[in-house]
Order: sequence, then structure tokens, then C-alpha cells
Amino acid sequence: MTVAATPPAPKLELPPLKLGPITVDTPVILAPMAGITNSAFRRLCREYGGGMYVAEMVTSRALVERTPESLRIISHDEDEQVRSVQLYGVDPVTVGAAVRMLVEEDRADHIDLNFGCPVPKVTRRGGGSALPWKIDLFTSIVQTAVREAAKGNVPLTIKMRKGIDDDHLTYLDAGRIARDAGVAAVALHGRTAAQFYSGQADWSAIARLREALPDIPVLGNGDIWSAEDAVRMVRETGVDGVVVGRGCQGRPWLFGDLQAAFEGSDVRHKPNLGQVAQGVYRHAELMVETFGDEGKALREIRKHIAWYFKGYVVGGELRTRMALVNSLEELRAALDELDTESPYPGSDAEGPRGRAGSPKKPALPKDWLESRALNDDQSREISAAELDVSGG
Ligand SMILES: Cc1cc2nc3c(=O)[nH]c(=O)nc-3n(C[C@H](O)[C@H](O)[C@H](O)COP(=O)(O)O)c2cc1C
Repeated sequence: MTVAATPPAPKLELPPLKLGPITVDTPVILAPMAGITNSAFRRLCREYGGGMYVAEMVTSRALVERTPESLRIISHDEDEQVRSVQLYGVDPVTVGAAVRMLVEEDRADHIDLNFGCPVPKVTRRGGGSALPWKIDLFTSIVQTAVREAAKGNVPLTIKMRKGIDDDHLTYLDAGRIARDAGVAAVALHGRTAAQFYSGQADWSAIARLREALPDIPVLGNGDIWSAEDAVRMVRETGVDGVVVGRGCQGRPWLFGDLQAAFEGSDVRHKPNLGQVAQGVYRHAELMVETFGDEGKALREIRKHIAWYFKGYVVGGELRTRMALVNSLEELRAALDELDTESPYPGSDAEGPRGRAGSPKKPALPKDWLESRALNDDQSREISAAELDVSGG
């Protein structure tokens, strides 16, 4: 891998992140991403740098029912030192049961709760980023989860957005409630549900939350595309750690850059095309191992291929063919056609990547915004809302 120095930045003094009994030496967290942060991708990221790597979110109901897919999502490689799981749920009893199962069966070292998902399928049922609006329900879920997790000394964290929209912000209340319930940390994605992935993450909200919760770690999330962005977020907001999502799609080596930056080094990965091709093939091989099904693994790798080659000189026809590969052999043959000496393209390979989109009115249960308490209809809906969803 080509590594090169960028203009020096002053060293950042950021202590290791403490989450209950866990110490994360490099205070960097791979954001949970459904369809992305499976054990294969987490392994790749780990090979480049330190941090904590969260699995794709799993629905509490599916987990309690032990569906094969939910058990796959929460499975970790033997050498994953911190087995981190993210639960989605809308019903305190089911979330509590899922946490209990993880703890009693020793299946996780860290559990995060998802209160950030803006996907209509989820918010329409009152889940994800819609949920903190309902104070009693939110409080009850977090308290139940913290209580169950504490039985195994497993730190529990929450990940949330700023709120539903600019007129219905929830993050400060939710942060305080979670702190009082005993969470080990809170993470804030600086967008509202209405923003989905559009516009820019509001780091000033992250700074406000950091100030409002001086007694627990606060983690900042949103629009970290480079190690320099991560350092800037820490400087501007005072967070105790950063959570990185889309910036590492097709760039697992970003975790190497992040570790370097937090250790005060200016060395960054600037892979040439041949090195990217090696990374793609390794990712595909790990996916085949993870899924035990070459066809499925290769279908899953297709979206990653576009991210890996962002900004690189790769012909349109070859890109199309790579996006249709069905086997490792076909992938190898396509990768062999690349000009492996083609250099790192610089800024074309950097900056925003992955999901973007435009703001939309969030889909919510009927009359959701009228009160911060659940009405009877909403309570009934909530108990039916533990769907098998995968999100973001
Ligand atoms: C494809 C995709 C899947 C996601 N899945 C989840 C998820 O399962 N749980 C969650 O809390 N957030 C999920 N997110 C949100 C990310 O964790 C993160 O909060 C968001 O992408 C903002 O961070 P970023 O700007 O670094 O990407 C997802 C995001 C993307 C793009």
C-alpha cells in the first residue's frame, strides 16, 4: 500500500475512549451500517487501524426469535476483541429480552441502541429516529436495556439523530434521559430524520450535546470523509470519539489514516489502482467466507466495487462488467484488466461517497408530533411494530 505524508497537523491529545469496562485505544468507531458492516468488512477495517467496529443493526424481535439472518448479523470472528452489536426496537419488553439474550448467552461485549434510522419503513412505525420524540417510550426502552446489560457488565450506548426535523429536536432531552438511565456513551449524527442523508451534518449540535453532558462520553457522527475531518470534528466539538460511516465505504484503509492522525502521524494511505484491486479481491474473499455462498457474496460485493474505484481511471465498460460479477474467478479476471500502476487520483477518490439524497418529510404514525406522549392508538401500533427491518 502506498503511504504518503500530508501537510502536518498539530497532534491531537485525545485519551482512549472508555465504555464501561472497555477501553478503545483509538477513539474511532465504525458506524453500524445495514448491508455493509458485516464481519468481513469489519475484519478488513480492523486490519488497517484500531477502533471499535459495530455490526449491522439487528431487530430485537428477530433476534429473540433467533432467525438465521439475525444470528448471522450478530456473529463475530473469534478474534474480534470487542463484539459490538446494535439493536433496533420499539418495544421495551422485546428490546429487554434481546439485551438479556445477548448478555446471558455471552454474545456481545457492547450493545448500542438505534434511534437514528430515518428509513420510512421504520419511522412510519414510530421506530428509529422517530422514537425519542415519545419521551416515556424512549425512557423505558433505554432504562430496560441498561438494566439488562448491567447484569453482565456490558456497556450500553445509544445512537441518535438531532430529532425529527428542525421544529422537533430531541437530542438534548434524549441525551440527558439516556445519561440518567446509565448509558456508557451517546452518539449523535448531526442530522434530523427529515434530512435523511442530505445537506451537511451539523457539528454545532454535537458540540452542544458535548457541553450538555459533561459526565459521559459523547461521540460525534456525520460527514467524516478523511482523518483530517475526524481531527477537525474533535477540535470543533470536543467529542470523546468519532463515528465513521460512509467515509469508509470502499476505503477500509481510512481506519489506518484515522489511527495515524490520532497518534499525531501525517502518513495516509494513497493506494494506486493495483492496491485497490487487491483490497476489493480480499473483501470479496472474506465475504465468501462470511456468507458461505459465493453467488450471494459476489452480489453483495457489487455495490462496494463502485465505491472502491471512485475517482480512479477505470473504463465504463469494465466498471459495468465488474458490477455484474458472479464468482471470484470472474472478479479476478476483471481486476486483471486494470492498469495496476495507475496512481492514486487524489481528491477525486476523496470527499463524500455513498448514500446522499434529498430532504423529505419523515413518514410518521398518525398524529405522532401532536404530543410527546403516546396515545392509545400509537401504543397499539408500537407493539405491532417490531418488524424485521434493516435500516440506516
Ligand atoms: C447504507 C447505510 C446503512 C446504515 N445502517 C445503519 C444501521 O444499521 N444503524 C444505524 O444506527 N445507522 C445506520 N446508518 C447510519 C450510519 O451509521 C451513520 O449514522 C450515517 O451514515 C452518518 O454518518 P456518516 O456521515 O459518517 O456516513 C446507515 C447508513 C448507511 C449509509
